[in-house]
Amino acid sequence: MREKDFIPSTKPEDFKSGKSTWRAPSNIALVKYWGKKENQIPANPSISFTLNNCHTLTSVTFSKKDAKTENFSFEFYFEGKKKESFKPKIIQFFRRIEQYCPYLKYFSLKIESENSFPHSSGIASSASGMSALSLCIMDLEKNIYPGISEDYFLKKASFLARLGSGSACRSIEGNLVVWGNHQEIEGSSDLFGINFPYKTHEVFKSYRDIILLVDKGAKQVSSTVGHDLMHGNPYAEARFEQANKNLSKLIPILKSGDLSAFIELVESEALSLHAVMLSSLPYFILMKPNTLEIINRIWAFRKLTGIPVCFTLDAGANVHMLYPEENEIKILDFIKDQLVAYCEKGQYICDKIGGGAKRIDH
Ligand code: DP6
Repeated sequence: MREKDFIPSTKPEDFKSGKSTWRAPSNIALVKYWGKKENQIPANPSISFTLNNCHTLTSVTFSKKDAKTENFSFEFYFEGKKKESFKPKIIQFFRRIEQYCPYLKYFSLKIESENSFPHSSGIASSASGMSALSLCIMDLEKNIYPGISEDYFLKKASFLARLGSGSACRSIEGNLVVWGNHQEIEGSSDLFGINFPYKTHEVFKSYRDIILLVDKGAKQVSSTVGHDLMHGNPYAEARFEQANKNLSKLIPILKSGDLSAFIELVESEALSLHAVMLSSLPYFILMKPNTLEIINRIWAFRKLTGIPVCFTLDAGANVHMLYPEENEIKILDFIKDQLVAYCEKGQYICDKIGGGAKRIDH
């Protein structure tokens, strides 16, 4: 599919008002997206586990105006309170999607959103938030253009979400989503996420992710600024090539369930992501001393017990611990005995691989 396929071409129906609610999950990348071209096109492909418990719930109430207006008309409420500070990000998103959603300026929108995870947990809500909002907008589109197929609905939701925040395009479906064109992955696209199309080993179907909240504050450098710094980074091309190769290597690993190879690849991806942050100009460090403490303890625990647990990192200090479900009890004991001391206020979030966004009926 091409970008122009996402511009409606049939005759719109006269839809007046309605409400749509979606619950969309967060995701955790195994091969990381870091660096982008114009129009939110990724510099390299990425793949993520869709999560289950960390999600955003968004409702949008639509009412048709008497006529199209020059500006977008919307109100934004976060956890029941009007939030003016979130509006610029939404306006930027609406501007980016306007040519694909020409109906937007004909409607007033009341957007109400809440997260299942604490707002100041250091967990980015842009992936789940932009995914949920895009799905609600697609519900509006489906009312205006009832002929659109389910496949088009989901692809376009991912396409729109990408324009809000790149990683958000991987938060529409589950359990493993690829975004970005990769020559060995059929159907992969720079424009939207697709379900990983090949066989995956049973062990990955119930994988767990515990997020250790090392630093709940706002990041000093946003992802958007970080991506941009890849333009002058001397290691950028090598990094993009590495991500491509790692995605190739991951295909047989996901099939065979070779956990040693999985661990090596996932941890190397996390550290390579942070390495290019260290080598950007201006340089920055998002890990904290407790991030390193936790990584070292995970390594020591793995060596001692043989339990195949590994870590990964997002663009922040929090540590995601990934492990097969059968190790749950031992991992929880390990966290309580050794890791909570390094978490801010002793907090961590238990999550697992999930099936994607869900529409909530009214
Ligand atoms: C480190 O999707 O937050 O989590 O497109 O600028 O909104 P924008 O960036 P964003 O970047 C996520 C980067 C990452 C890696 C990943 O999820 O692949």
